[in-house]
Amino acid sequence: MYVCLCKAVTQQQIEQAVEQGDSYAQIRQKLGVGTDCGCCGQSAKQMIREHTSRL
Ligand code: FES
Repeated sequence: MYVCLCKAVTQQQIEQAVEQGDSYAQIRQKLGVGTDCGCCGQSAKQMIREHTSRL
């Protein structure tokens, strides 16, 4: 499932980055999440929080 349509970033890519210890800022920098229209930012942050709590 795409989380960020502008940068074509999937939930799986974000979860893998979280598993490698990346923060939202690092994921934003590496994958470009939230760097275009910005509308995915809140949902990406929520996804990172939820996945972090499952680790
Ligand atoms: Fe992620 Fe636009 S949907 S920056």
